[in-house]
Amino acid sequence: MSTPNRTRRLTPSAITALKGDRPIVSLTAYTTPIAKLLDPHCDLLLVGDSLGMVLYGLETTVGVTMEMMVAHGQAVLRGVSHACVIVDLPFGSYQESKEQAFRNATRLMKETGCDGVKLEGGTEMAETVAFLTARGIPVFGHVGLMPQLVNTTGGHRSLGRSEAEADKIRRDAQAIAAAGAFAMVVEGTVEPLARAITATLAVPTIGIGASPACDGQILVSDDMLGLFNDFKPRFVKHFAELAPTISKAAEEYAAEVRARSFPGPEHTFQLKRQPV
Ligand code: KIV
Repeated sequence: MSTPNRTRRLTPSAITALKGDRPIVSLTAYTTPIAKLLDPHCDLLLVGDSLGMVLYGLETTVGVTMEMMVAHGQAVLRGVSHACVIVDLPFGSYQESKEQAFRNATRLMKETGCDGVKLEGGTEMAETVAFLTARGIPVFGHVGLMPQLVNTTGGHRSLGRSEAEADKIRRDAQAIAAAGAFAMVVEGTVEPLARAITATLAVPTIGIGASPACDGQILVSDDMLGLFNDFKPRFVKHFAELAPTISKAAEEYAAEVRARSFPGPEHTFQLKRQPV
């Protein structure tokens, strides 16, 4: 399998250099056509393991596999020529040892051509982040709310309300930055904590449910496009309402098929000349 060429995409170090310059724009992407649409507007595209929930209907990200991340990483890389593309290491692919993390991170980089990998974790992952970055793998950290830990931390709620919780997240962020992460996601924390972490770190924070003071923002694209109507977390803003648009299109298509008004003559292929 050939590794896609790096064209003129932003590098992880270019993302780091944006801190203090301008806000970093990030979204998730999982497929070629969506990546093509988002790429001109984004600095960083994340092939997030949220794809397990968004595309595959899983309840959590725990069931996401390396094969899913490779397939969607390859698809996104086919559509991107500008943004830095980071692919998530899924649950179970890096926590066992730094060697396991290296093996799976290199697989993602070789087979997708991505610019780096993301992993969730704080102080307990610092040694792994240092091991990867010392060996040529740019690492995007992820602290605060960590969806892969849902089975031990008990669900999705904003963190950092108690001093002990805030202190742990601060130490996590500092440990991952000191270990060499080029940037990190800060997810689901109270606003002043994300603001304070951003002010103390030398690398960019990319917030989701965090603070406008973060160095950049990320959202799950399907959330911000309004593809899910059943649940909208507080930190999500719909920049479009695609769910009703899609539903209406399907309804109109069904009506036209039933009425035999689609396909019309303009959608069918006629013989140019009648055979004699
Ligand atoms: O998996 C994902 O999409 C993420 C972002 C929401 C930060 O981790």
